Amino acid sequence: MDLPAHTANHPEVALVPMVCGLDAVQTICQTWHQRYDRLPDALIVENSQAVGGHIGTTCDDFKGQIERLLPQIQDYLQTQFQVEIPLIAAGGVWDRADVDRMLALGASGVQVGTRFITTTECDADRRYKEAHLNTSSKDVVILPSPVGKPARALRNAFAEKVISGSADLERRCVANCLESCLCRDHRKTYCILQSLANAAAGDIEQGLLFSGANVGRAEEIVSVAEVMAALTGVREAVVV
Ligand SMILES: Cc1cc2nc3c(=O)[nH]c(=O)nc-3n(C[C@H](O)[C@H](O)[C@H](O)COP(=O)(O)O)c2cc1C
Repeated sequence: MDLPAHTANHPEVALVPMVCGLDAVQTICQTWHQRYDRLPDALIVENSQAVGGHIGTTCDDFKGQIERLLPQIQDYLQTQFQVEIPLIAAGGVWDRADVDRMLALGASGVQVGTRFITTTECDADRRYKEAHLNTSSKDVVILPSPVGKPARALRNAFAEKVISGSADLERRCVANCLESCLCRDHRKTYCILQSLANAAAGDIEQGLLFSGANVGRAEEIVSVAEVMAALTGVREAVVV
């Protein structure tokens, strides 16, 4: 809510909040407009049915959400503030057809996460990447996190323990990384930094393998250039 205050002396910094519902857009825009005479420079609009990692708390309650949400946000911004703010759609985008679908709905761009896991350049351990090959959406679960929000990840021994509330979970805080943490403050859930680090280091059974719902389409590990070609539809896509 107070991001504009933090960047008051840095007008070149773009403020791009991530939202997954109209209520979040309304709260951010009204507050920023009143307090700071400012609106977001762009918004990342999450499709909570698909995004990997944390999911906004109230946002997984109906199907086809992004299809409704993008036009709703555009209408709201136009009606209330007479502005068009670029909307970046995130969640479940895999290829050019998905990009085109989001652009047709009014998005100005897309944010892609899961598809880049199975790239050569992804710096996670090879076993993390291989866990994403030949899986299916049936292997994806929603589990609680110490942040206090649900999160989407691949099913493994760790995820099963978290879901069942097993006492057999490491609850030692390793880095004091969150302002509010169920693990550090209440000895609940698990240490997220440790769990994600375990996964990135290749412990695919006892690590937390964040993943979007749109898994199962990757058959091999490819280069980022190949992913960009699939996303843009341009064979010689330039990777900066
Ligand atoms: C492994 C993984 C880690 C992620 N970590 C974060 C994160 O730390 N912060 C964040 O805002 N989003 C995070 N995300 C969400 C992505 O930024 C992105 O919005 C989302 O995954 C897009 O959906 P897709 O994975 O279906 O392409 C993560 C996603 C994945 C797959």
